[in-house]
Amino acid sequence: MLGGTAVRTIAILNQKGGSGKTTTAVNLAAALAELGKKVLLIDLDPQGSASLWLGLKDKGQPLYNVFVEEGQPILTAVQKTKWTHLDIIPSSPILGHVEKVLASEMAAEMILKTKFEELFSWDYVLIDCPPTLGLLSLNALTFVQHVLIPVEAHVMALHGLVQLMKTVQTVRQRLNPALDILAIVPCRVDFRTKHAQEILSQLHQRFPSLVSKTVIRENVRLAEAPLHISPITHYAPQSKGAEDYRSLSLEIDQPSTSTPPQGYTPKCSDPIDLVGKVDT
Ligand SMILES: Nc1ncnc2c1ncn2[C@@H]1O[C@H](COP(=O)(O)OP(=O)(O)O)[C@@H](O)[C@H]1O
Ligand SMILES: [Mg+2]
Repeated sequence: MLGGTAVRTIAILNQKGGSGKTTTAVNLAAALAELGKKVLLIDLDPQGSASLWLGLKDKGQPLYNVFVEEGQPILTAVQKTKWTHLDIIPSSPILGHVEKVLASEMAAEMILKTKFEELFSWDYVLIDCPPTLGLLSLNALTFVQHVLIPVEAHVMALHGLVQLMKTVQTVRQRLNPALDILAIVPCRVDFRTKHAQEILSQLHQRFPSLVSKTVIRENVRLAEAPLHISPITHYAPQSKGAEDYRSLSLEIDQPSTSTPPQGYTPKCSDPIDLVGKVDT
């Protein structure tokens, strides 16, 4: 708690590419902003998809500098977007070099955490993570209170989920005791297929307390929105996609969704690779 406001920090994480991280980060951020919350979206993926979606092309290297230059304030990397209450720290390809440059640096996974106190003026800080569990994602996990895991409703998408839970558990034990899994969010759900329904029921069976009530349905408007450089709530405000992300924002924006550390608890003897050795 700083300056009278509690900042809620959420990493949107899944080491599998194409699981809906960027779509969720951008549109959940916009839906929370629409609720009147001040939202900062940090694009931590060197591919910069969230930055491009919100109209920020390669903006040089401010975020990279935050990682590699000692004492560089993170506020220097913040940019306004066109949308009220929604700010962004954009990414650029150079961010991909962070892993190598800081490979032998001590406590490199804590860099983002040291910047936390600068971010008190936002209600939410959302992080769009890259599709790897490397140093950038580890910085996100060390920094945030919550992890939100988008899962594509496809059988392949379930592979790697248990390993991801173990990684979160390990970070909680070693680096960030306050870390919890806020929700597993089923994405791209097509209720017309039996397959999607089977995946949903498997998710509920395996992680009963973690699956969000909101399901993000397959919706072509969501796939189109980045081309129109707008979040779904502005590009197609009446669409199912907008409806689903609004519903998710309401579900997230209540204290009861901050579950205590729980869910999957791996055995202590389980071997755990923290950095980049997870099956995808
Ligand atoms: N609910 C959805 N309906 C339709 N297309 C979607 C939906 N969610 C994501 N997509 C599409 O799936 C692809 C992968 O989504 P993305 O959010 O970029 O995943 P990630 O960031 O995990 O790699 C993108 O082309 C995106 O437009
Ligand atoms: Mg992405």
